[in-house]
Amino acid sequence: MHFYILTLFPEMVMQVLKTSIIGRAVQNGLLCVHALNIRDYTNDKHKKVDDYPYGGGAGMVMQAQPVYDAWQAAVQEIAQKRGNPGCGHPRTIYLTPQAQVFTQGTAKQLAQEQDLIMLCGHYEGIDERVLEEIVTDYISIGDYVLTGGELPAMVVADAVARMVPGVLTNAESAGTESLEGNLLEYPQYSRPEEWNKKKVPPILLSGNHANVDAWRREQSVLRTAKRRPDLLAQAALTEKEQEMVREMHAAKDRKQVQASHTQEDQNQTQAAFTGCEPQI
Ligand code: ADE
Repeated sequence: MHFYILTLFPEMVMQVLKTSIIGRAVQNGLLCVHALNIRDYTNDKHKKVDDYPYGGGAGMVMQAQPVYDAWQAAVQEIAQKRGNPGCGHPRTIYLTPQAQVFTQGTAKQLAQEQDLIMLCGHYEGIDERVLEEIVTDYISIGDYVLTGGELPAMVVADAVARMVPGVLTNAESAGTESLEGNLLEYPQYSRPEEWNKKKVPPILLSGNHANVDAWRREQSVLRTAKRRPDLLAQAALTEKEQEMVREMHAAKDRKQVQASHTQEDQNQTQAAFTGCEPQI
């Protein structure tokens, strides 16, 4: 799989994507990362790539020409590599907060592509006309605004790359992990058996794989119910698991009621001492 990243900061992207698991996959020829510097494609004699927005307003806008020419260079490279000059319009992702938020499902889908072009914006954005011309997918990595699209591009590249067959070793494999089936992963433990007076759950030392699997599934469900109830709503749970989640919520409610009673008791005790009404 080949990633073409159109950016004003190619070194930033390459520095990250040449390390760790993605770097190893690049070394092994499973992935290729090409970072194209948009500034190299500007026709401006001062190497300018941005200008004031029409209609006024703060900041600068990246101009259409250098972005389009950088994109065309990537498209040509893809066509040459595939030995097919008319190989169409490659999937082109613009990283922007003005989009649907990236999910594991999108990563899986993008991992089917042979080539992905990613466009990183800066300043107040990119001239809309070139976006209309080249972009096939708009992706946000979350509802917050970053200074540029490079970090989001690296996030997307990492999540997609690890789904490409062979990128993860068996040990690193993506089999049972967070977000599989809309459940978060169960807690993990390693040596020593006791740390800081905390013991590893005994079932994990039992050697009984069926019991371990059942415990892990239960922990996944409970963790998702606690931390990401929005995800749990999309998970397929058995009747027994649904009952377990209801019981967890009921236990939490009981604890809250108990805590509020304890607080009331404390207020009353204090009032008895001071002779004042409790302050609510
Ligand atoms: N560029 C700036 N902020 C972003 C975000 N949250 N997601 C994707 N691209 C961005």
